[in-house]
Amino acid sequence: MRHFLASLTLFFTVHCAAWAQAGASTSSIAPVLKYVKAGRLFDSQTGRMLTNQTIIIENNLVKQIGPNLPVPAGAETIDLSAQTVLPGLIDCHTHVTTQPENYLEDLFRRSSIDAAITAHVYARRTLEAGFTACRDVGAADLVDVALKRAINAGKVVGPRMFVAGPAIGSTGGHADMTGFSPQVRIESIATGIADGEEAIRKQVRYNVKYGADLIKMIATAGVLSEEEAVGAPQYSEGEMRALVDEAHRWGRRVAAHAHGTEGIKMAVRAGVTSIEHGSLLDDEAIKLMKQHGTWLVSDIYDDDWILTEYAKLGYPAAIIEKERSVGKLQRESFRRAVKAGVKIAFGTDAGVYPHGYNARQFKYMVEYGLTPAQAIQSATLRAAELIGQEAKIGSLAPGKFADLIAITGDPLQDIRLLEKVGFVMKDGVVIKQ
Ligand code: ARG
Repeated sequence: MRHFLASLTLFFTVHCAAWAQAGASTSSIAPVLKYVKAGRLFDSQTGRMLTNQTIIIENNLVKQIGPNLPVPAGAETIDLSAQTVLPGLIDCHTHVTTQPENYLEDLFRRSSIDAAITAHVYARRTLEAGFTACRDVGAADLVDVALKRAINAGKVVGPRMFVAGPAIGSTGGHADMTGFSPQVRIESIATGIADGEEAIRKQVRYNVKYGADLIKMIATAGVLSEEEAVGAPQYSEGEMRALVDEAHRWGRRVAAHAHGTEGIKMAVRAGVTSIEHGSLLDDEAIKLMKQHGTWLVSDIYDDDWILTEYAKLGYPAAIIEKERSVGKLQRESFRRAVKAGVKIAFGTDAGVYPHGYNARQFKYMVEYGLTPAQAIQSATLRAAELIGQEAKIGSLAPGKFADLIAITGDPLQDIRLLEKVGFVMKDGVVIKQ
């Protein structure tokens, strides 16, 4: 025994010394310093455009920010003095792992393995479009978790991802495969189909166990799936409450896919953090969202893309009709929600349209009631708040991640300039310039 203790002590003495040394040598590696000159700088905290600012970046973090800071010794200068610098954009509703090519082929000729092979391409496109972070709200078979891990480990290039794993929904609902022969079976690791409170709680635990940062609940029917109705509730309020209760126990927020008025109200009352889509809001729904502090994440660009492209992709006429029945109303709902002061976060459902076009939605957000500054805030600080990451992303301030983008011209004058992001830095590393 004594012998064992002696060797244990020796082990610790030797190894602790080695660790201490390793620690000392890491801290003596000089930090990588960058000095960014910003002609204009959008302050997402105040919504104001500042001029002639400088930013000092140490490794992956913003160290200092202000007018005419002295250039630190050894810093690389990045001259964006002819450009407008903004915090990296955040899309709160993406499906980075997939992109539609053909209705039946996507469903029956491609698997999650195919999705896993190509997901990094879409991730890079998203990042290069200026979106340095995204909340990815539903992917079959946990491909999103794998992609996020590969990005965080530096194996592939992509935005910071906050992921849901498989969306949780009912049999025959928007997350299920509906409209096909009952003999068709798709084998999945995780589809997220769960009925009844007990099964729903178990599915929440499963998602959390395998890496979900948030829970996506399918509260109502959808557009791009073959259920008849577009907005009918697909869970009882009891099921929704059970899902939210279980998610909260595990420290996870809930994003609810909800188009229809009744399902939106049920989800809000059940305590979800955000309503996704929110197509058919009435005054009571808006009032409830304000009372509960529920966010609206509304993909108001998609109607254009679906109506011009989806027939070509072989989507059934009934689905395109469903889009016609909600697309315009969704934009009007958005306008009324903005007017009433509902909290808005930017989310596009990228993956419905090609990844990288995320910024096309800004134009509609301005057309339907936000000021350009508010629209940018919805995709920066407000988005970070919705995700619960406002201490690290969403604005440029000391201690936050050096995630920033630059464009030519002033987006407060022309919001569409955000569709052409020329410079992207994520985590202190220049991705595109
Ligand atoms: N994923 C959504 C659904 O299928 C897309 C809705 C797109 N349409 C729209 N108007 N935003 O329900």
